[in-house]
Amino acid sequence: MRFYRTRDYDDMSRKAANILAAQIISKPRSVLGLATGSSPLGAYRRLVELYRAGDVDFSEAVTVNLDEYVGLGPDDSRSYSYYMFDSLFDHVNIDPANINMLNGLETDEARESARYDRVIERSGGIDMQLLGIGPNGHIGFNEPGTSFEKDTHRVKLTESTIEANKRFFASEDEVPRHAYTMGIRSIMRARKILFIASGEHKAEILHRSLFGPITPQVPASVLQLHSDVTVVGDEAAMSMIPT
Ligand code: GLP
Repeated sequence: MRFYRTRDYDDMSRKAANILAAQIISKPRSVLGLATGSSPLGAYRRLVELYRAGDVDFSEAVTVNLDEYVGLGPDDSRSYSYYMFDSLFDHVNIDPANINMLNGLETDEARESARYDRVIERSGGIDMQLLGIGPNGHIGFNEPGTSFEKDTHRVKLTESTIEANKRFFASEDEVPRHAYTMGIRSIMRARKILFIASGEHKAEILHRSLFGPITPQVPASVLQLHSDVTVVGDEAAMSMIPT
């Protein structure tokens, strides 16, 4: 595991964007596993700047996103699909045919999960998976207690996640109760993992994930078993990580 301690959110975002850009530059047809939430926003902003400056070209890149709320379509501004177009895809030269998102409007769980697992497999596998961490240790929407053996599946969100994500909705009642997510097994198959965290509220869970027992109760702890993880965190998030 490699650790990069950065000054603050902007510095973390710049470092993460540089690592993603380096991946695309060294392999233009990279398959990027992408994440949502507040943590990656700055990195996406920076990638757009790098693209505009002519430093990175997305024309051959393929993306697969981690998760999506059940019941929200791509036109809903609260969906992860909307978030991705708004913060990255609409501003770079990615081929729309190479963008893969889970379909929150698909009601057949088995069909959607199998479709997405096939998408990942046919892409040749994820070269670099970007991950944030939920306050309860979730990655994607793999909540505490999820088996490490799962591929894409539908989950019931925990109260802690609903509480943490309600800031993106008008009220807590509007937060969808279910989501589709890539499973831990799908995430662990990625060749490289780029794990980002920002803020004091992530310090304890980041430490527990990377130095505590490896257990499904702390989904991110599985990353200790991956052979190529780069952690980029700001000082506040890294405050409990030994130097
Ligand atoms: C959501 C997403 C996760 C993300 C987490 C943390 O629940 N499903 O993929 O890592 O939020 O979000 P934030 O970066 O906003 O703290």
